[in-house]
Amino acid sequence: MWDSVADYYKSSQWLYRLFIYNKDTLGMHFGFWDVHTKNRQQAILNENDEIIRLAGIKKGMVVLDAGCTQDFGKTNFANDYFDVIFGIESLCYASPKTNILKELHRILKPGGILIIADGYLKGKSNMNLFQKDIEDFKSAFALKEFVTGGEMVASLKKAGFSAIQSNSYLNRVKTVLYWLVKLGGSFFRPIYANSLALELACKGASQGFMDYLVIKAVK
Ligand SMILES: C[S@@+](CC[C@H](N)C(=O)[O-])C[C@H]1O[C@@H](n2cnc3c(N)ncnc32)[C@H](O)[C@@H]1O
Repeated sequence: MWDSVADYYKSSQWLYRLFIYNKDTLGMHFGFWDVHTKNRQQAILNENDEIIRLAGIKKGMVVLDAGCTQDFGKTNFANDYFDVIFGIESLCYASPKTNILKELHRILKPGGILIIADGYLKGKSNMNLFQKDIEDFKSAFALKEFVTGGEMVASLKKAGFSAIQSNSYLNRVKTVLYWLVKLGGSFFRPIYANSLALELACKGASQGFMDYLVIKAVK
């Protein structure tokens, strides 16, 4: 559906700006909801807070937001540079995963923390039932690969990370806007692609073949 990840983001930016982010949060992620959360901006901040808590980010630390900066596959940062690296819904684009995780491992200090918040496949035995949905989801979000949490953990280990913890936050993620698919049809590509992807994310969550994990790993 897209020529590249850049093509997808260039074409979809106005939609993200309209429905997802504002100048206060600048966040383009799903966000974490609870009974006190009133709107998407609060949900986005809740997810940021959870990542800060899990990573133990404190004033004075050197932190990289991987996915809002130079290509995370080949950065020009020095070895052992960051205390914390986090990637929110960005490392799903890393391909092949192990090579990019090796680069993040290189620039993280020994004992430094990597946090990855992202959607994953659940890897259930009846996966073939959802194969078309999964391929459509990848194509709509310009994903080269869409892995299971287990595959991500295996790639992290191969890249040299240890003390890996993975927790599901699926019950705190809410997807919206997929009704737009009815408006977009196949005529207006960014609307169609994003609403299809969100519709399939909803289906993946409700039918149990997708998950949303926050993975913590230590160099
Ligand atoms: C869903 S957005 C999330 C952005 C941000 N992390 C946030 O939470 O608001 C995914 C981001 O991944 C970035 N991305 C994809 N491939 C990348 C790469 N190879 N290097 C750096 N960023 C990348 C895209 O530019 C996009 O901004």
